[in-house]
Amino acid sequence: MIVPGYRDHPTEPWDPDAPVDPGEAEDFLRRCYTENPRLGPVEPRLAIVRAQIAATGTYVHTPDELTHGARMAWRNASRCIGRLYWRSLLVLDRRRARTADEIYSLLVQHLRTAGDGQIRPVISVFAPAQPGRPYARVWNEQLIRYAGYRTEDGHEVGDRRLRDFTTAVRAFGWQGKGEAFDVLPLVVETPADGIRLYELPERAIREVPISHPEYAWFTELGLRWHAVPAIANMRLTIGGVHYPLAPFNGWYLGTEIGARNFADTDRYDLIPRVAARLGLDTSRESTLWRDRALVELNRAVLHSFELAGVRMSDHHTEARRFVTHIDNEAKAGRPVPADWSWIVPPMSGALTPVFHRYYPEMDLRPAFYLDEEAAALAREGRRRCPHR
Ligand code: ARG
Repeated sequence: MIVPGYRDHPTEPWDPDAPVDPGEAEDFLRRCYTENPRLGPVEPRLAIVRAQIAATGTYVHTPDELTHGARMAWRNASRCIGRLYWRSLLVLDRRRARTADEIYSLLVQHLRTAGDGQIRPVISVFAPAQPGRPYARVWNEQLIRYAGYRTEDGHEVGDRRLRDFTTAVRAFGWQGKGEAFDVLPLVVETPADGIRLYELPERAIREVPISHPEYAWFTELGLRWHAVPAIANMRLTIGGVHYPLAPFNGWYLGTEIGARNFADTDRYDLIPRVAARLGLDTSRESTLWRDRALVELNRAVLHSFELAGVRMSDHHTEARRFVTHIDNEAKAGRPVPADWSWIVPPMSGALTPVFHRYYPEMDLRPAFYLDEEAAALAREGRRRCPHR
């Protein structure tokens, strides 16, 4: 799809040694100042930025540019169904933090700011990468994740997805309880302090125990989940400047937990257990026992968050809001890049309006990217290729 005035960026691997691309800086600044007339004319600002790039290889965003740039990155996140709220993103400017201790305490503050009931979308933006210089990062994929273990007799405990990461942090000296919902420590890496592990304090971790509106036995499954999904390892890029540490959170959509985290066979794999407790006929696929168990599991998740007073959306409501977002953006003359396979919910897809259409697949910037190295660190807790 070709939209006048929109430049499509091919996703190429990030080169941390490369200076800022002045064309990308200009592209962003023009858009940012057009969308925010109160910022005044862009030309004087462009002159300053061009000079800064020529002299230093990079430039420094004003707080307004940082705030709007981060919001644009959310607006451009083609896998996110929750983008109707992109303007409400609270942007915490943490660019001055340097030490691991400082970063850790600001991450705790992030989770406290996101809240423990009326969750609000927040991003903490730490220092940008300087071309050719080492930068701070967090290894974890999310600020809050549960450990995964394989017991000696071959049983899986906890979140299987995090099993290798768990093994790695144990090798660093962390002691997990070996239970199904042990919150992993944060692995903070800085040029100043190297690799440091931090345990999150309880006050930063709101969790919801899972019960079912009708089946009292559901609590016997001993399930819980954390209230705040906070992605920690995606690189935010704004106008050619890269922010490798810019953790952000929204609130949960029920299906993320009920239809994926609890249901995927490489996560908690709970469908067979729930089906057994429901007494379903699992001898044949055609009884749709998996689907029936999935619905009850998802009812339990939505019910529990509501009961706990923790903000969560259901997939029908959020899908409708996404269509509203598309309409709003069309009025503003902007396309909504979207990835169908992520936007359509993992259950009852065709019952929601987002199923019945296609979307432009564009890579617009500002954007969030998951770099290969960041993905490997979050999966395995170690570098795949030797560090430069
Ligand atoms: N799907 C991820 C999880 O279950 C979270 C991704 C971000 N979700 C969100 N609602 N902002 O942990």
